[in-house]
This record gives sequence, structure tokens and C-alpha cells, in this order.
Amino acid sequence: KRKNVVVLGSINADIILKLARLPKPGETMKLQGFETAGGGKGANQAIAAARSSSEVHFVGRVGADAYGKMMCELLQKDGINIEHIKTDANNPTGQAYILLQDSGENSILVNSGANVFIQEEDVKDARYLIEKADVIVAQFEVPINRIIEAFKMARAAGVSTILNPAPATKVPDKLLELTDLITPNEVEAEMLTDIHVDNPISQRNAARMLQAKGVKNVILTLGSEGAYYLTENNQEQAVPAFKVKAIDTTGAGDTFIGCLAAKLNPNFDNISQAVHYANKASSLTVQKIGAIPSIPTEKEVTRR
Ligand code: RIB
Ligand code: NA
Repeated sequence: KRKNVVVLGSINADIILKLARLPKPGETMKLQGFETAGGGKGANQAIAAARSSSEVHFVGRVGADAYGKMMCELLQKDGINIEHIKTDANNPTGQAYILLQDSGENSILVNSGANVFIQEEDVKDARYLIEKADVIVAQFEVPINRIIEAFKMARAAGVSTILNPAPATKVPDKLLELTDLITPNEVEAEMLTDIHVDNPISQRNAARMLQAKGVKNVILTLGSEGAYYLTENNQEQAVPAFKVKAIDTTGAGDTFIGCLAAKLNPNFDNISQAVHYANKASSLTVQKIGAIPSIPTEKEVTRR
């Protein structure tokens, strides 16, 4: 049976600027290339889940502009239900300026636009979708209060909640208590726990502290190191990443989370396989430029 996934999240047009290196103050520098691609943490996660065979419903906002139209068409092309993406008359579609350097490092500047104007009534309008989902996924490019409202609805209806605490910010305990699975990277984990996560012991300590704050299950994403998880019933494992040459890591974390939403059973009994699958998928995402264009389908992940 197909997983039914609701994503409450951000939608951005990603403007990719290819540079030899970052410019110095006062310097004028030529770009080596320019591309526009679909992105935004919410949209990336939704696409990843849809390409891994889930039925996906999106709750979000775009502006009344060309980027908004482009993004809705992209999401629809992957079969995502966009009925609950509202067009905001007063704010532009979110934009992310991605400075992609020769070294493969990237820096991202985000103009949040319509994403941060998602209203309480937008979430209320989607209540019937949230209540019949298997899982709801959210990230911090939309207002935290909207996530709390949506997770309350989900919890009351027995729907699992996945929180991707990105970009890094402090989180109210109230939200952690409504979270079945949290997926921070090292930086986000430190923000949430004040523990500097850089080895197996600190990974376990950070995960345990998050559980003490009310989260049931924790998966730390560790970039090229893979992932570490600690579940409610104390299953624990470090799952190494696939070794690949990274061209553009934008959207790799989102691919991981969308794939987890698609593949993880509600009782977490297949967590090891689901994390392995999600690792494999994100190792494919980093090998191509752009977020949405590089997110693999289930066929591509399971090939070989
Ligand atoms: O997580 C990657 C995403 O973050 C990019 O697609 C960009 O839009 C930023 O929001
Ligand atoms: Na990519």
C-alpha cells in the first residue's frame, strides 16, 4: 500500500550561481554559470517521498508570480496534490540564492517570501488531509506555530510526525513533545541540546537528551559519515554513507527525510532498511546539480 504523506513546508525557486570562490568585499566577479531549479526544504522532501512511491499532499504558500507557477507545475508533475498550496497576493514566492563554489562547498541566501506567511487557517483547511495521512513532515522554513498546530492535529488522530529541525534554530519543548521522529544534522543537534556532536558518544548523548525532552525517535544525519539512530525501544545503529563524489549537496538532506517518510513503518521495525534506502537516495542526489532535478526515483535507488 502506498504511504500517505502530508508535507507542511517551504517552496523556493533555487537560483544557482556557480562561482570559482566567494567574492571579496568590493570585488566584482564573473559567474561561471547560472541555473534555476526547483527547491525549498518542503518541496524537496515532498518530491523525494513522491518519487519513492508515496501519495503526497502539500500544505504551503507561493506568491502570485512566475516562480510560484513554475513550482506548482513541478510539484504537480510528480503527482503531488497542490490543492492546499495557497497563492499569497502580497508576498513573493520564496527564493534561495545558492552560491556553488568550485570546491563543491555551497552557501545559501534565502528570501523566505510567502513561506513565512502560512496562516493558522491554512492548516485548519488541511485538517481532513492531516487526519487521514500516515505521516506528516515539517521543517523550519515555515512558522513554528503552524507546525505545532498541525502536529497537534496529527497526534490526536494517531498520525506520525517527522520534524526536520532545519535551518538550525531553538525549538520549544512543546513541539518536541509532539514529535515522533526528529532528524537533525550535527549543527542542528548542537543547537537543540548544547552537545557538540562529533563522535559516537556525543551522538548517543544528544539523541538521549532529545528523548528526555519528549521526542520518541532520533535520526542524526551526519553528511558523508551517514546517519545514526536511536529509537524509542532502544534500537541503535550507525549506518555509513555511500562513498561518492559530491557535485552539489543541495537537497541531499531533504532527499533523506522524504525517503524516510516514504519507507519507514510507523512502528519503526524496518528502520535499518529505511535508513539504508534513504542514504542510498541522498548519495544519488549529491551527484547532480540542483535540488529537485537531482532527487532520484525509487527505481534509481533500488537499481543494482
Ligand atoms: O535544503 C535545501 C534547500 O534549502 C534548497 O533547495 C533551498 O531552497 C533552501 O531552502
Ligand atoms: Na543535487
